Amino acid sequence: MSKSVRSDGRALDELRPMKMKVGVIKRADGSAEVEFGQTRVVAAVYGPRPIHPKHQEISGRALLRCRYNMLPFSVSDRKKPGYDRRSTELAKVITEALEPSVFLEEFPRTVIDIDMEIVQADAGTRVAAINAASLALADAGIPMRDLVSAVAAGRANGKLMVDLTKEEEDADDAIDLPMAIMSRIGKTTLLQMDGVASAQELESIMALAEEGCKKIYAVQKKTLIHRYNADQTQTEA
Ligand code: CDP
Repeated sequence: MSKSVRSDGRALDELRPMKMKVGVIKRADGSAEVEFGQTRVVAAVYGPRPIHPKHQEISGRALLRCRYNMLPFSVSDRKKPGYDRRSTELAKVITEALEPSVFLEEFPRTVIDIDMEIVQADAGTRVAAINAASLALADAGIPMRDLVSAVAAGRANGKLMVDLTKEEEDADDAIDLPMAIMSRIGKTTLLQMDGVASAQELESIMALAEEGCKKIYAVQKKTLIHRYNADQTQTEA
């Protein structure tokens, strides 16, 4: 793919610089911090543990309870603290993106809580949160079918590209397509789209996202291997 035109000098199929680290929150059962350029998220996992309120108990499996929160200082206009409609919707799609990856049936009547805090936002926070949450689940030692890797691809200023910044997402012709996949199994667990694309564009954008997810998967695995080798160093790519 040709070099471009992007304001940060990236090629169209190039991800932002990534940093991943696990075991960052000592009080949690598992945790991770993930950065894609200026987008930065921390995820913490608790459980499986008894569920409160008890009526949320599911007899045949664990409940995966995700919370997504954008911190007031994470965006340029200070955000009102607390959960809102957007965070509730994102928690739902993130839950659905992660659920197929976890052997929930092994822990009936329990809850696995995942808290995701957006520390800094420059677009792509839902996908960064999914990458961090999946790493945090693995860090907690929860049995999983595969890691979930996620990135958005789309269009800005007439070009198709991966891992859009906020500036790119704000282009008049923007398309934003967040995708999450389990690379080893080859299963897509999140696919959303904002904007209008032709069938051909859609195919190319999905291919860009899939290729991006595979690169992210490699960095996630490397991060976990570092952790298991007890040389917790940050993984950068
Ligand atoms: O973050 P993501 O792309 O998953 O979700 P979005 O709802 O499409 O938001 C895109 C971007 O808009 C965020 O990443 C933030 O950079 C920005 N945003 C903001 O500045 N203030 C908000 N209250 C919400 C989002």
